[in-house]
Amino acid sequence: MTGRSVVIEFKDIYKSFGKKEVLCGLDLAIYKGETLVILGRSGCGKSVTLKILLGLIYPDQGQVFINNTEITALSEKSLMPIRRRMGMLFQGSALFDSLTIGENVAFALTEHSDLTAGEIETIVAKNLSFVELSGTQNMMPSELSGGMKKRVALARAMAFQPDILLYDEPTTGLDPITATTINALIRKTQLEFGVTSIVVTHELDSGFSVADRIAVMDDGRILEIGDVESIQNSKNEFVQTFIAGPK
Ligand SMILES: Nc1ncnc2c1ncn2[C@@H]1O[C@H](COP(=O)(O)OP(=O)(O)OP(=O)(O)O)[C@@H](O)[C@H]1O
Ligand SMILES: [Mg+2]
Repeated sequence: MTGRSVVIEFKDIYKSFGKKEVLCGLDLAIYKGETLVILGRSGCGKSVTLKILLGLIYPDQGQVFINNTEITALSEKSLMPIRRRMGMLFQGSALFDSLTIGENVAFALTEHSDLTAGEIETIVAKNLSFVELSGTQNMMPSELSGGMKKRVALARAMAFQPDILLYDEPTTGLDPITATTINALIRKTQLEFGVTSIVVTHELDSGFSVADRIAVMDDGRILEIGDVESIQNSKNEFVQTFIAGPK
């Protein structure tokens, strides 16, 4: 199914904020076309990991490679074209409340491309149709449900037809049925566009339903990585406790 070439690699990453060590020796490789889920409790450093990949946070130590290019060695300017190849769904959707849905989806294209207004309109319509929100261009974010906002965030993340999609807690705060539709959409995006995806979540059901592989994170590093079955049958005590949930 998934090819074995490595698209993203974190090598021995360390990151502290003040005295707080968040990442301590994070190693992780993600294969082309797979959906890798990073599972871990709140505050363990999942969002920081994604932000390091996007170049929004710089690690104290270690290297990050994308398609064998060491992005941690690049200037902001050289990083730009690589960053364009990545789409990010931020935790909580992060739509611009004062912009329409159409303007939200168009945002990066309007700011960072030479496309004409007509070309941008076509892409916006196509991406909104992909997430099954055709015709919502003139609505405001406040008029949408949480699930719809996540779908708009996906349509926006797909602006530059990224090869890599990063999802930060895509189902957190949604009811189970809406969460299921978002998980299905993550799968559909993977299958239709062959994207390499990282999904960060602390929700087990969502993680298990979208993952090709799961990486369990704790204490700033990856404790265990494997397919859903191997993680469900893990012998690691922390992984077992995390999966069993609160008593
Ligand atoms: N810019 C920052 N400045 C200072 N501390 C930060 C910063 N970003 C993150 N942290 C701290 O790093 C730790 C990890 O944060 P992170 O947002 O990665 O957690 P998370 O695993 O995504 O949690 P959640 O599941 O709640 O989203 C937290 O203790 C957080 O307070
Ligand atoms: Mg987070």
